[in-house]
Amino acid sequence: MHKLSIVPRGTIDIRFAIIIIDFPKTGRYSQICRHVLNSCMAKIIAFTNQKGGVGKTTTCVNLSAYLAEMGKKVLIIDVDPQGNATMGVLGLERKKSASIGIYDVLCENCHIADAVLTSQIKGLDIIPATVDLAGAEVELVRVPGREKMLKKYLDAVRESYDYVCIDCPPSLGLLTLNAMTSADALVIPIQCEFFALEGVSQLINTLKLIRNSGLNSTLDIDGVLLTMYDKRSSLTDQVANEILKHFGSKVFKTKVPRNIRLAEAPSHGQPISLYDPRCAGALAYQSLAKEFLQRQPTATSTATSQPIIEEQVFEADAPEDDTTTESFGESQTS
Ligand SMILES: Nc1ncnc2c1ncn2[C@@H]1O[C@H](COP(=O)(O)OP(=O)(O)OP(=O)(O)O)[C@@H](O)[C@H]1O
Ligand SMILES: [Mg+2]
Repeated sequence: MHKLSIVPRGTIDIRFAIIIIDFPKTGRYSQICRHVLNSCMAKIIAFTNQKGGVGKTTTCVNLSAYLAEMGKKVLIIDVDPQGNATMGVLGLERKKSASIGIYDVLCENCHIADAVLTSQIKGLDIIPATVDLAGAEVELVRVPGREKMLKKYLDAVRESYDYVCIDCPPSLGLLTLNAMTSADALVIPIQCEFFALEGVSQLINTLKLIRNSGLNSTLDIDGVLLTMYDKRSSLTDQVANEILKHFGSKVFKTKVPRNIRLAEAPSHGQPISLYDPRCAGALAYQSLAKEFLQRQPTATSTATSQPIIEEQVFEADAPEDDTTTESFGESQTS
């Protein structure tokens, strides 16, 4: 029975699952059906941290882009009214001209499938944030079941993707709550700076609350990512150690260095894999995508269909803003 739980996500066609579900659903068969169906459904990841500017959007966009480059089907959902993920994937012109977005899905103005836009990367789609989203927190407040709106609509597209990555705003408001209620897991980017853990305990409390209230009893942390990491700074080291003490093995071995190319890429409307695939930031996110897939219980060989950094995990020891691959130094195997 345990072997069934390692059916690789996305490797079984949903039509096959539907045939299987026609079998008697008693005991053993119902468990088989659940395992098979899970393998057909996207895993939903919310990128969250109510602290602003810690790298949620940069991580959501670039991890998603590399997962798509590695053969996965990925849908980004931008639930941040700032629309930074939309900008980073579509660019300014397409962001401005997007007339339908996640707001329209939540307000039942359109079917979720009609809000999906394709990107320049094969396998990477996005549901954008449009200007109306800023009003959503207020408008949804009176809607019954308001914390579960996103979950309700996501089910309709779950079988079309391997991963759905939700970029959350820097708050624990209704939009973030919807993302956390829909998600299977959280990725928490933390910037290595003095107040790094400020607010994280609040986030953990919210996670516990969501679990215990029955809104999402299986929500878990998939990983904690150290961003804008500068190995030469002793403060960075101290903060990283604190985070390690707090989260242990949840912390990704990959650390993302401060890298100017990562900051430039969104203004060109491109993930780093298109904008500058050889810079230190790109290598870090490519390495993160590999580590992320290795951590999934259903890790599959399709993850390695593209050339990736040979069995290494990126550790930032580059000088600030180094954009070359030479900084790719001291690494650990995972
Ligand atoms: N590793 C990095 N090196 C350099 N700049 C970075 C890096 N990661 C993110 N940035 C830049 O830092 C700023 C904040 O990053 P980002 O928008 O990803 O954070 P965020 O947590 O999504 O912010 P918000 O809370 O406002 O949504 C952006 O200008 C981004 O381009
Ligand atoms: Mg953001």
